[in-house]
Amino acid sequence: MSLLIQHIKALVLAEDEPKSFYAGKEMATLSLLKNAWLYIEGSQISDFGTMDTLPNTYKEASQIIDASDRFVFPSYCDSHTHLVYPESREIEYVNKIKGLSYEEIAKQGGGILNSAKKMAEKSEDELFDEAMLRLNEIIRYGTGAVEIKSGYGLNTTNELKMLRVIKRLKASSMLEIKATLLGAHAIPMEYKANPSAYVDLVINEMIPQVAAEDLADYIDVFCDKGFFTPEDTDRILNAGMKYGMRAKIHANELDYSGGIQVGVKYNALSVDHLEFTSDAEIDALKNTETMPTILPGAAFFLNMRYAPARKMIDAGLPVALASDFNPGSSPSGNMQLIQAMGSILYKMTPEEGIYATTINTAYAMGLSETHGSIAKGKVANVFISKAIPSIEYMPYSYGDNKVETIILRGKIIS
Ligand code: NIG
Ligand code: FE
Repeated sequence: MSLLIQHIKALVLAEDEPKSFYAGKEMATLSLLKNAWLYIEGSQISDFGTMDTLPNTYKEASQIIDASDRFVFPSYCDSHTHLVYPESREIEYVNKIKGLSYEEIAKQGGGILNSAKKMAEKSEDELFDEAMLRLNEIIRYGTGAVEIKSGYGLNTTNELKMLRVIKRLKASSMLEIKATLLGAHAIPMEYKANPSAYVDLVINEMIPQVAAEDLADYIDVFCDKGFFTPEDTDRILNAGMKYGMRAKIHANELDYSGGIQVGVKYNALSVDHLEFTSDAEIDALKNTETMPTILPGAAFFLNMRYAPARKMIDAGLPVALASDFNPGSSPSGNMQLIQAMGSILYKMTPEEGIYATTINTAYAMGLSETHGSIAKGKVANVFISKAIPSIEYMPYSYGDNKVETIILRGKIIS
């Protein structure tokens, strides 16, 4: 099977020499190949160029799409979600509107613990079917790869159940999926008096059993005030890494928790949230292999402070933007909206927003060699926009779905 997309208004983020991620000033300018073509063979990007260079042989492609007035973008990569969950939590949302804080709701056994209670009652099949609907929804908004965390089990049985669901999703969805063990998402009620006993359980029981079934690519900890301490995080990351799970952690959402530093210490692939980031944290992140990942949906939805994205990029750091799709703090996986929030709330330019939601997020989920940009040999995950005037229109027109045609693994999905 071959597919030619021609007369493209501009091909976005097409790279001759692919990079793993873009940082600081590199994020200011973006490759836009005008009046372009893209040639896909099987599941891979085979070639691209400008219309004056289109080889005659490519005109014999089995499928041809005319993309006049339309842009071709690399699919979004969403490097942080919790989209396998038992139930939505709109009642908490109403309580938040009435004045309760996220921490107050958590202290009353709401929040993550509420989801954990419901998780115990759900079957694997129900979880799978509902998550599949969410995956199909994010595909429609242009996502081509997604990371999904456990963390609503909070005991070995139910963490395994969640991760088995994610394994089935990996096998059934057109999306590229990575799985993360987040056993240390919250301290269960019965361990409140002795949190380190729960950390022991994560280390001695969960991690080895998850590894034995090869269910997780990464290990995560919610390292923050009222949740897990840097010392707990240190122990858990150490244990996970012994089983080949690289760290990707929740850090500095609620306080200067030390999470960023402990993530960097363990060469985490990413540290995520980052609302409490000062010069010390920015310095700790410089010249490391850890992707600072901001989750605008959570800060927006919880009406909390915004991470200093502008300062981070101006200091030369890369920044990734992910959805955090979850029932408590960010009930949307729409990456177009996340990109718009990046511009509106975080003052990121449209170019920076595109890097932050594609190649930089691909890096944050270990996929930048195969996903996140348009380059020869990469997986053909792209979308064709509707007829839009410019790439700036993407974050500007924040309420609309600008995706018209979706191509995943070289196949036209819709
Ligand atoms: O990333 N911050 C911690 N965990 C999730 C929230 C999950 C929930 O409330 O269900 C987050 O925002
Ligand atoms: Fe999260």
